[in-house]
Amino acid sequence: MGKEIFSTMTRGILLLKKWAYSRVGNIHFNLGSMQIKFIMCFMLAIAFSKFTAAVEESPSGEKIYKEVCFACHAQGVANAPKLGDKAAWGKLIAEGQVIITAHGYVGIRAMPPRGGKEGLSVEQFSKALNYMVSKSGGQWGPPDKDMIEEINKEITRRKNTQ
Ligand code: HEC
Repeated sequence: MGKEIFSTMTRGILLLKKWAYSRVGNIHFNLGSMQIKFIMCFMLAIAFSKFTAAVEESPSGEKIYKEVCFACHAQGVANAPKLGDKAAWGKLIAEGQVIITAHGYVGIRAMPPRGGKEGLSVEQFSKALNYMVSKSGGQWGPPDKDMIEEINKEITRRKNTQ
């Protein structure tokens, strides 16, 4: 992608040079279409850079929290552990990342599965959870491949006993 933007920009610059030359040299060029091409190249380059920015930027934990978890965890609806409540979160943190991520994901008592967001992946759920943990006295990193496997095992085990 980076290379494509670069080459589009280079083409735009070359066209600009040609256009400038055509003016100085007073050579008969179709200026109108040259200008349009240049403008189009520029717009394409901008569109490409916007596109790559959108692809690289998967939603952050904070964003998912605000979209999904905030509704209950900001105010502590139905006894949901409140964001920033170190006592409530301290107990959960002590149980460990694998267990708490899996149980939250499957749903527990008044906590709906995935916080009610059907398509949320384990990774996305974990990001939102880790954001809450980071604001509530803990620090959990993104789960690596092995931990994801452990979480998935616990999810299956939990589903079978529910
Ligand atoms: C509809 C309200 C609601 C939403 C939305 C919600 N939660 Fe919860 N959550 C709860 C409630 C209520 C509890 C407390 C459950 C209990 O212990 O009885 C809870 C508990 C939890 C727990 C503790 C689980 C355990 O093992 O005790 C985690 C982790 C959690 N939520 C994560 C999340 C995340 C992450 C999101 C967003 C992706 C989210 N929740 C969205 C209501 C919600």
